[in-house]
Formats: sequence, structure tokens, C-alpha cells
Amino acid sequence: MKAAQFKEKYGPYALVAGGSIGLGAAFAEGIARRGVNLVLLARNEERLKATAARLREAYGVEVVAIVADMADFDVVKKRVSALTIEIGLLVYDAAFAPIGLFEDTSEDDLARAAAVNVKAPLLLTKLLTAPMIERGRGGVVLMSSLAGAQGSPNLAAYAATKAFNVILAEGLWKELRPRGVNVLVCQAGAILTPGYQAAEKAKPAPGTLPASVVAETALNALGRGPIVVPGATNKIGRFVMTRLLSRKAAIGVMAQNTGGLS
Ligand SMILES: NC(=O)c1ccc[n+]([C@@H]2O[C@H](COP(=O)([O-])OP(=O)(O)OC[C@H]3O[C@@H](n4cnc5c(N)ncnc54)[C@H](OP(=O)(O)O)[C@@H]3O)[C@@H](O)[C@H]2O)c1
Repeated sequence: MKAAQFKEKYGPYALVAGGSIGLGAAFAEGIARRGVNLVLLARNEERLKATAARLREAYGVEVVAIVADMADFDVVKKRVSALTIEIGLLVYDAAFAPIGLFEDTSEDDLARAAAVNVKAPLLLTKLLTAPMIERGRGGVVLMSSLAGAQGSPNLAAYAATKAFNVILAEGLWKELRPRGVNVLVCQAGAILTPGYQAAEKAKPAPGTLPASVVAETALNALGRGPIVVPGATNKIGRFVMTRLLSRKAAIGVMAQNTGGLS
């Protein structure tokens, strides 16, 4: 889709939840390059303001920066509802990934994963698609992970929250398409982001992609189908894991891959 068409369909503002660094910032940059203004949400004010200033300067778009923790949806809702602008695109990128054995993961961390990865994307999608449906145009991109394609030992709760986003987006893709609203889930493999680099101490996994490639692939796929898997290696990996292997075998392969995270 050409930038002008993108702007017409998903402008004048896009909201990126988790838009200050890494993949979220890459989404924000890809959207700004298409001439759409931004609302960026993240917790760290300094990093958020730096990204907002960089994008204003580079692309001449307006950028509203909102400091908020997606775990506290009441605050997020209040701040987003107070905006008097039209939001035509939601990208939900923020996530919390408790890594380690389930028995060693605290109740607080499990509740936080559910709040940031499930409750917030669900309710933010509800909040922002209502006016999109009324206008008969708009889009939603939810970030998921190949970890959510089967059970993932050592990442069990995170993987389950990512599976939730796949199923939610697929259902909404069909429901909202006739109303002019395109929904997409991006099921990514490893991405070179500060979050990934902090968790993965060994060298990057095969098929690891730069954040800019993942963001561009997802933005270009919006409106084409319910799901996108960036990168040929990841597409093959997903096919093998979900279509060729038994569930038991796929979980076993995943265990070998996630066992190294700590
Ligand atoms: N990295 C990978 O290898 C990989 C692989 C597959 C899927 N994914 C998915 O891709 C997305 C990006 O993951 P990433 O870890 O690589 O992160 P990232 O996009 O590099 O950074 C996360 C962004 O979200 C913000 N954020 C995090 N927690 C937040 C919260 N509670 N409230 C508000 N903002 C929050 C961060 O800023 P603050 O810290 O300032 O809040 C930052 O802007 C996630 O949905 C993840 O599940 C990542």
C-alpha cells in the first residue's frame, strides 16, 4: 500500500503501545515514514521523549508521548480517552515475559504478564475499534510470538498470553473486515531488540531479524490476512512446528530452545 493510501486508511494518528525502543520504535518509525502522526506509550519518560523528538524531526509528524504502564489499564484508558484526536491504527507491542520455571515465577509476575499481554491489548482494542467501526476504517496490529504457537516450557505463561493474541486477532480479522477495520497478528520469531538481547545471552537464534524488518513486514501485511510470520526461516519453522510435528514433539523442540533462557 502506498504511503498516501496508508495515511487515508489508518491516519490521522496511530497509537503504539510500547513505542519507545526496539520493535515498538521501529513500528513508530515505519508509521511516521508513511506520514501518519503518532501517540506513543511507554513507561520510561526519557526514552519515550527521545524517540518522539527524533521522529518529529525526521518525518515532520506530530508525536504525542504518554507515560503509562500498560499493566494499569485504568490509567491507560483515562489518558487515551482524554485525547481529542482520531486514532486510526493501534499497534500493541508492549509485553512482559517472565522467564523461568512456572514454580519459580511469582504470582505478581504472572498477574503482570496477564495484565500487560492480555488485558491491555484486549481492552485497548475494544476502546479504539469502537470509533474505527463508526468511521468505517482503521487497523489493529497485535504482536505475538512463535513461542505462542505451542506450549513453551520455561516461558509457559508468556507463550500462553501470546497464543491469546493470535486467536483474538484472527476472530476480529473476520468480524471487523466488513466494517472497514483490518486486524493483523504478527507472530514473530527472534527479533534483535534490547529486550531480546537482555534475555538471550548466547548468539542470536537462526532467523533472528532486525526490528525494522519485522515492523515493515507487519505494516505491509496489514489488510491482507489475519496473520503474518516475518522471515522465511520463521515461516518454515512455524510450518514444521504446527503442521508436521505432533504437539508433543513440537513442545519438546521448544523446550530445547527455551531451556537456555534464564
Ligand atoms: N524480541 C523478540 O525476540 C521477540 C520475539 C517474538 C515476539 N516478540 C514480541 O514483540 C514485542 C516487542 O518485544 P521486545 O521485548 O523485543 O520489546 P521492544 O519493542 O524492544 O520494547 C518494548 C517496548 O514496550 C514498552 N513497554 C514494555 N513494558 C511496558 C509496559 N508495562 N507499559 C508500557 N510500555 C511498556 C517499552 O518501553 P518502557 O520499558 O519504557 O516501558 C518499549 O518501548 C512483544 O510483544 C514481544 O512479545 C519479541
